[in-house]
Amino acid sequence: MLWTERILKYDHTNKIGNQGDLIKHLTLTVAISRMAETKHAFTYLDVHSGRARYDLSDSGEWGQGIGKFAGHCAENAQLPEDLAYFYDVQSLNRVNRERKYWGSSRIVLNVLLDQGLTDIRMILCDTDSAVCRDLKEHYQDRLLVAIHCMDGYRKAYDTGGVDLVLIDPPDISAHYTEFTALMGHCLARGQSFISWNSLHGNSIQQGMSSKCLSISRWADESGISSFSVRWKKGWSRQMCGCQVLFSVPGAGRVADACGDLVKLMGWSTVES
Ligand SMILES: C[S@@+](CC[C@H](N)C(=O)[O-])C[C@H]1O[C@@H](n2cnc3c(N)ncnc32)[C@H](O)[C@@H]1O
Repeated sequence: MLWTERILKYDHTNKIGNQGDLIKHLTLTVAISRMAETKHAFTYLDVHSGRARYDLSDSGEWGQGIGKFAGHCAENAQLPEDLAYFYDVQSLNRVNRERKYWGSSRIVLNVLLDQGLTDIRMILCDTDSAVCRDLKEHYQDRLLVAIHCMDGYRKAYDTGGVDLVLIDPPDISAHYTEFTALMGHCLARGQSFISWNSLHGNSIQQGMSSKCLSISRWADESGISSFSVRWKKGWSRQMCGCQVLFSVPGAGRVADACGDLVKLMGWSTVES
């Protein structure tokens, strides 16, 4: 299927900062901050970039994600170190007042700058021309941010010398083939990557869908760390949680941070 047929209209605006973004963005923050400790320069490739910054609307899903997280953090003086770092570096103490939140590319840039790196290269792909215009405006003063309004899978195969790839498709059903092929390609090349996909129930609503199960099993068989989380009770064909795979240095620390988040938010982890 061509990407032009597949994407038709996906808009992340209403979903920004929801439960899935919270776990994805915590994963990114912890992984990047650990990787930055050993590097002077960093190149990041975002296959499905989305916007750099979002306005949080009253009807958005963020209340169940970063909104709830910010509330827990404000009440909890003893937060685990990595959750506290995510809260601070992404300015979540101001989220309810300012109603702004960063997308993945800006989250990565915030962490790299906070870790003292200045030699930063970012390659951002999105197929939505309005998103690309927004990215170009946001990053206009940063010479080393390249924005490609094109199929991010294709760009990923053509680009070398990358420290971390984020693969974050809008819809696991339509993207399954390209998504899993790109993860396989990263694994074969020893390329560090983080992937995110929505978690769905099977047709009898008693466990993971076959696609989610095969992603989980592939990660186990390949020795890649993964984390499956459910924030809804029961199984549904609709999104009821998410899966993150992280083939990065310091993966144990990322998994611990995800575990701490799940506990704080009252969610559950899912075994394949
Ligand atoms: C889930 S959103 C990305 C969210 C972002 N990574 C974040 O965490 O803030 C998915 C984005 O992928 C874009 N997209 C869909 N198909 C794509 C493709 N084949 N290549 C690049 N971008 C694509 C959509 O336009 C959308 O902006």
